[in-house]
Formats: sequence, structure tokens, C-alpha cells
Amino acid sequence: MQSLPDVPTQGIHHIAFGTKCTRATYEFYHHKLGMPLIHVENHRLKKGYFRHFFFDMGGGQALGFFEINNVGENPDYRTDPSTGLGMPLWVNHVSFRMNDRASWEAFRDRLKAQGVMMVGETDHDFCHSLYVIDPNMLMIEFTFDTDEEKFGMSHDDAYKALFETPEAQIPEDAYKGARNPKVKLYI
Ligand SMILES: [Fe+2]
Repeated sequence: MQSLPDVPTQGIHHIAFGTKCTRATYEFYHHKLGMPLIHVENHRLKKGYFRHFFFDMGGGQALGFFEINNVGENPDYRTDPSTGLGMPLWVNHVSFRMNDRASWEAFRDRLKAQGVMMVGETDHDFCHSLYVIDPNMLMIEFTFDTDEEKFGMSHDDAYKALFETPEAQIPEDAYKGARNPKVKLYI
């Protein structure tokens, strides 16, 4: 098989989303999640302006948002990155890595107590995840690894699963909805 060059990237520098509620986004990430606001830029563009602001998500990586004002957006633009494009809420999302179950549980309980919109949690066999919703209707996931080895697949196995597994061959026990005991919905 043709060998591939080394991965040229080193994780995420930052990712960015649009927001219509800068104050609520700041309150959510800075105060509730505890990701400090670390950088803000204000720029004029065309007949308007935008703000680009960043939160420290740990690991030397940042989560950014744009507040846009008359810079070319449609008047009825939306910022919910899944439902706004006609997909279920859980499709486009960001997953933050957490150290272990203990810190994950403490964090989950703190978010619950703070009234964060909680969706549920899932045991994925290789990791365990908590899902919450931010003020922009962006789904956020918090994950700790439970068995990293189960995540890695050979390229052959991954290719077969992706391109050579018709719907009829997807087993019933791969179901991911609320009747799966590994899925626990809070809503
Ligand atoms: Fe995910």
C-alpha cells in the first residue's frame, strides 16, 4: 500500500463560529465553562464591522467567535450550525478532551448546577461523552477516553466500514438512539 507522509498538522490552532449573542457567548464560555476570554479583535469591513474573540480551551488551542454587523451577511442569517442548515442538532459539534472520569463528573455536575442546557451522555466504548448546548445552538461535547486502543482501526477496516457496508449490514445493536442503554438523555 502506498505510504503516506507524516501528518503535517499538530491539532487545532483555533476553530471559529458565528454568534448573534456575544454577551451570552461570553457568559457561557468564560464564566460557566471556565474558558477565559484571551483575545479580541475589532475590525471595520465594507460598510460595517465585526468582532473576533477567542476563548482558551486548553492545550494551547482556542475557540473563536465572530460577531458580524453589516459585512455581507444575509439579513436572516443563522448561527446554529446544524439546525440552521437543516440537520439534527448533534451533527456539527465540537468535542473537548477531558483528563479522566473524576474531572469529567465534577464538571458535568457543575454545569448542571449552573443551568447549562444539557442533552445527555453516551458511552462510546472507546470514550465517554457529555453533550451540552451553547447559546448559539452549537452542540458541545466533553469527552474522556476509556479505551484508546478501540478507537484506532486499520485503514482497511476503516475503509470497509465507510465504503463497503450497505445499510442492511449495519447491525441493530449499533443503534444510537434513546433505547440504547449506553445513551442517557437528560431531555
Ligand atoms: Fe462527537
